[in-house]
Amino acid sequence: MLTKQEIIDILKDDTNNEKLFLKADKLRQEHVGDEVHLRGLIEFSNICKCQCKYCGLRAPNKEVTRYRIYEDDIISYARNAADMGYKTMVLQSGEDEYFTVEKMVKIIKEIKKLGVALTLSIGEKSYDEYKAYKDAGADRYLIRIETTNPDLYAKMHPNMDFNKRIKCLYDIKSLGYETGTGCLVGLPGQTIEDLAQDILFFKEIDADMVGIGPLITHPQTPLKDENNGDFWLALKVMALTRIILPDINIPATTAMETLNPNGRIIALKSGANVVMPNVTSSEYRKKYEIYPNKICIHEEPDKCQNCISAKIKSIGRTIADNQGQSKHFLSK
Ligand code: 5AD
Ligand code: FES
Repeated sequence: MLTKQEIIDILKDDTNNEKLFLKADKLRQEHVGDEVHLRGLIEFSNICKCQCKYCGLRAPNKEVTRYRIYEDDIISYARNAADMGYKTMVLQSGEDEYFTVEKMVKIIKEIKKLGVALTLSIGEKSYDEYKAYKDAGADRYLIRIETTNPDLYAKMHPNMDFNKRIKCLYDIKSLGYETGTGCLVGLPGQTIEDLAQDILFFKEIDADMVGIGPLITHPQTPLKDENNGDFWLALKVMALTRIILPDINIPATTAMETLNPNGRIIALKSGANVVMPNVTSSEYRKKYEIYPNKICIHEEPDKCQNCISAKIKSIGRTIADNQGQSKHFLSK
């Protein structure tokens, strides 16, 4: 276990980065093996009531073309992805109030009939709502803390409450979900100390999955004149997360590939063991513009599956043929 000061020192010193990435890669291999898990990502609505300062889908952005994929189509995208071999689906959306508990429960039950694992990433809900989804069959839940600095959190998330977000994570955990969180790297005003604290938070909350990505500033948000996050710093935060939680699932994030053309492969060689290709059609992908220049927005599902599978195999890794539950979760 690293101390906060040790994490800070590693983050501040770039002379040993290669050693850090190698160490994370070695721990990844020892604890979760060479299999890479593909998750079929369904971004089913870009309608969002929130105002996160960094996010292109924030409610005040009137320039986005909003869309919502309705129940039957969500289910058919999931069926398609299952037919393509995906063993886990991830349902992600903005905080769209159309999708009531009743509607979500129906969707969850239908998708679970496909024999796949199901992850939800649909934001802050009440304990009872999380429980209803769990009872309907949802297996995993992703909700990034984004930053553990409460002041920075407040600045970035108007009308949101840091403590509510933490409570969501504890509710999700207590309901028996595989619990995923994560952070953004490069928020304006974020310090190396903040990032060290984020890493310690993942340990404290005992996360089963952690997603880390660099900030990519969106021109239609209040952060439009700020700098992007640094790819290598995000990679270091990810590698350190592998070191302190060696048996969790860590995705090579799309944001990493957006900042570096080989970002996902570099991440897979520096601690990551999951990739989440989009399985909806390009009609929707381009509208789910959390940040600009997102990869794969013109591709169709089969293209992404072939592309990423070939890349994964080219570095000597295999594509998992199982649901890829977090080993960390299973060992509790
Ligand atoms: N740049 C990078 N990542 C972003 N996210 C939202 N907006 C941006 C952005 N501009 C991330 C958040 C969220 C996840 C779905 O996408 O961390 O949790
Ligand atoms: Fe989508 Fe490569 S993963 S085209």
